Amino acid sequence: MSLLVFIFLISTPFTFVLTNGFPSTPQSFKEAPQFYNSPDCPSTTLDNPIFCSSHAVHVAMTLDTAYIRGSMAAILSVLQHSSCPQNVFFHFVASASANLSLLQSTISSSFPYLNFRVYPFHDSAVSRLISTSIRSALDCPLNYARSYLANILPLCVRRVVYLDSDLVLVDDIAKLAATHLGSEAVLAAPEYCNANFTSYFTLTFWSNPSLSLTFADRKACYFNTGVMVIDLDRWREGDYTTRIEEWMELQKRMRIYELGSLPPFLLVFAGRIVPVDHRWNQHGLGGDNFRGLCRDLHPGPVSLLHWSGKGKPWARLDANRPCPLDALWAPYDLLQTPFALDS
Ligand SMILES: *[C@@H]1O[C@H](CO)[C@@H](O)[C@H](O)[C@H]1NC(C)=O
Repeated sequence: MSLLVFIFLISTPFTFVLTNGFPSTPQSFKEAPQFYNSPDCPSTTLDNPIFCSSHAVHVAMTLDTAYIRGSMAAILSVLQHSSCPQNVFFHFVASASANLSLLQSTISSSFPYLNFRVYPFHDSAVSRLISTSIRSALDCPLNYARSYLANILPLCVRRVVYLDSDLVLVDDIAKLAATHLGSEAVLAAPEYCNANFTSYFTLTFWSNPSLSLTFADRKACYFNTGVMVIDLDRWREGDYTTRIEEWMELQKRMRIYELGSLPPFLLVFAGRIVPVDHRWNQHGLGGDNFRGLCRDLHPGPVSLLHWSGKGKPWARLDANRPCPLDALWAPYDLLQTPFALDS
């Protein structure tokens, strides 16, 4: 079924219903500096609308009150390390039941020059497909928005970099966006072939050949869905949203995995993606899901730091219990602290 029926334009009158209305006091954020293109950047200004320009780098993220501080830091990091920051276009997907105009004005006040749009995501589209996972934060419908980008974003957006909200870039996103996808790949992401792939699915799955044979003809490896380059044309053509939904429907009837939005991606794409250098997703910095231990960087160069896992750097910094690497997130924090002496 097409999701388009659920997608309304941003001009739809908003209902000011606050769900998950935390943090309880409104957070205020500082204004980021303006970032300018270097002289050799291709011009997008003649293109109308600008987000249809073939020179634009498209970034998709979700936006909600709980993670907005992380999103702001991620946006700042993208702009700061971009050689053509004015060519970056942000597509934010937010729950249709959230206060969209507040989210939108929060972004515009910190980034007055940012190219962006906010798209409402109708939770009902996916909530009927969600079964409970072992980490309840993963059950939030917005967590599944990444499977619907091809339906949500305008058709002229043909390639997008999807980013989670708990990460910062320390390199030019245009390099990641320019990943060669070859003649048929839909997705590119760092792959981890040493991870135990078996553990992402249940015994029910592996002991049923009609299910587990889905991996028979491919060298399936784990990949993290927090950083992905997606060819939206190919996604639309192959209707991968429906393929993901089909596995989610099956999961409702028989438990084939434990985590939330990740396993359906693995079922559809593992072994079929273009591997990206590991520098583009130094993941796991949030620590482990159970004890919240600090993690170290994986060996090798770093272009993107990702605090996946239970702990988030802003929460640990606020609690005065940061992990050593949280110091690398702090410079991108735009939160206005109430008693800060403004310089
Ligand atoms: C991989 O995970 C499965 C299921 O969790 C486990 O039975 C198996 O022993 C693990 N394999 C390795 C090599 O650790």
